Amino acid sequence: MKKTRRTFLGLLPLSLGTAGLLTRCTDEPAAATPPPVKKPVVISTWQHGQAANAAAWEVLNRGGNALDAVEAGVRVTEADPKVRTVGRGAYPDRNGIITLDASIMGPSGDCGSVAAVEGILHPISLARIVMERTPHVMIVGQGAQDLAVAEGMEVTDLSTEKSKQDYEKWKVENPGYLPPINVENHDTIGLLALDENGDLAGACTTSGAAYKFHGRVGDSPIIGAGLYVDNAVGAATATGWGEAVIRACGCFLVVEFMRQGHPPEDACRLACERVIEKNPDWRDIQVGFIALDKYGRTGAYCIQPGFDYALQDQDTPNTMHKPPSRI
Ligand code: GLY
Repeated sequence: MKKTRRTFLGLLPLSLGTAGLLTRCTDEPAAATPPPVKKPVVISTWQHGQAANAAAWEVLNRGGNALDAVEAGVRVTEADPKVRTVGRGAYPDRNGIITLDASIMGPSGDCGSVAAVEGILHPISLARIVMERTPHVMIVGQGAQDLAVAEGMEVTDLSTEKSKQDYEKWKVENPGYLPPINVENHDTIGLLALDENGDLAGACTTSGAAYKFHGRVGDSPIIGAGLYVDNAVGAATATGWGEAVIRACGCFLVVEFMRQGHPPEDACRLACERVIEKNPDWRDIQVGFIALDKYGRTGAYCIQPGFDYALQDQDTPNTMHKPPSRI
């Protein structure tokens, strides 16, 4: 077969993409002159990200590393019963059980995750245990709870009066038990950090879709879907309808677009376009990505308006920002 320039470029190994060579012909990134590095940086999803950023920033500020910072940050959200989509007090599944998903990834490329775990207040720390103390990447359900107990974690009832009342109300109002497609009911906390050393890490934790099928696992604990970190390039995390993110391998894709030379917002927009391509129902769902590159540049993009993220760096106090959206 005669090779055109396009097919030739398509055959180049991915590593050459760091030089900006491997690009989608329709979305060429700007020519790459490395920007100055800005560090440290923390960025996280939704309003609850502000409190998470504050905890992560404190770790970085006293010289801590990005991995410790992202874990410390999202633990705040996990413990806050007012955040109804993460940890304590979260919306349960349609059987009335709170099941949690979480993942963590550090600069070495190592990663850990747990899914459908019950009764563990800090699934993010359990995900870190999977990464650091087992030969595995992902442990789910009872096995994850057993590991937590073996590691000294307590099994506790994560429901609150409010989460129980809401569930009873939901059962009456939804006798068909159809899972809702709602643009705003999966407010995952995803947090990315770049530390003084120039290392990247990310954490992502959620109770998933409200009133989901028992056993349903979303994108958040799936490395490459809800979270991805490549210390040579950048990091990304996702929020929204997890099934749609999984179909597009969303966060891996964001990082790959950054590897090709796209700045973070552009990389998030291109990944959203891929989500749209793969999900014919895209107008009825929310998906949002945030990204942080090796240079400390940040960006975000989402399908529906309404998503916001919290950002803190040397020049920016811990404030909320609205990304552009497709609709
Ligand atoms: N993005 C979180 C979930 O769908 O479970």
